[in-house]
Amino acid sequence: FNPGIVVVAAGRGERAGTPEEGPKQYRLIGGMPVISHTLSGFVDWGGATAGIVVVIHPDDQGLFRDALSHVRETGNIRFVHGGHTRQQSVLNGLQALENASPSHVLIHDAVRPFFDTALINRICSALKSGDDAVLPAIAVADTLKQADANNMVAGTVPRAGLFAAQTPQAFTFDTIYAAHRKAAEEGRIDFTDDAGIAEWAGLGVRLVDGLSDNVKLTFRRDIAMADEKLSLNLI
Ligand code: C5P
Repeated sequence: FNPGIVVVAAGRGERAGTPEEGPKQYRLIGGMPVISHTLSGFVDWGGATAGIVVVIHPDDQGLFRDALSHVRETGNIRFVHGGHTRQQSVLNGLQALENASPSHVLIHDAVRPFFDTALINRICSALKSGDDAVLPAIAVADTLKQADANNMVAGTVPRAGLFAAQTPQAFTFDTIYAAHRKAAEEGRIDFTDDAGIAEWAGLGVRLVDGLSDNVKLTFRRDIAMADEKLSLNLI
């Protein structure tokens, strides 16, 4: 078992709505950049024997260097440049990890800093028991509505059996790398997560319990709330 990690951090964070404040993975929460928390989580776990590849935007090298200065141990961490989409950025990360001959890979969004070691251990247990693809997810709690073009409710979607997908998503390295390359070759560039590529490639994807704290910091208010929670020691 020789897992590597790909952390994608090359997005511009347009949905956070405040470009002048920079990409959200570099915004400060609890006094340090979001991505410093994320990388520290993996370093503290200590199991990434094939190394950690961070995929960054070429414009962000200074921000990234500064973020690394907050991480206790960086000897295991390398970076490569990302692409125009998350999917392309992941593929660049997998390519960079290939030399380390990883048995498995955990693929994670930099903007989810609040995973914990127990979550990683659940994921790794599933990998070790032979699953090719593992997805942490949370059963949907809200009632779900379908909207029509006029913003009227067109129906209620039964939520039984529906889950919200999180990261890290984990895979046997060779299978997800092959699936990613095949998707790129066939011009399928519309996947928003890697489990989606695994499904498309015909792999069985194992669901494991996600973590409610493991939110994706997407909007400006998410950053503010994360900062607040850290200052109150709620995470
Ligand atoms: O845009 P989205 O919220 O789906 O981004 C999820 C993760 O993918 C973020 O950590 C973001 O930095 C990363 N990403 C990337 N390259 C892109 C777009 C997004 O690494 N071109």
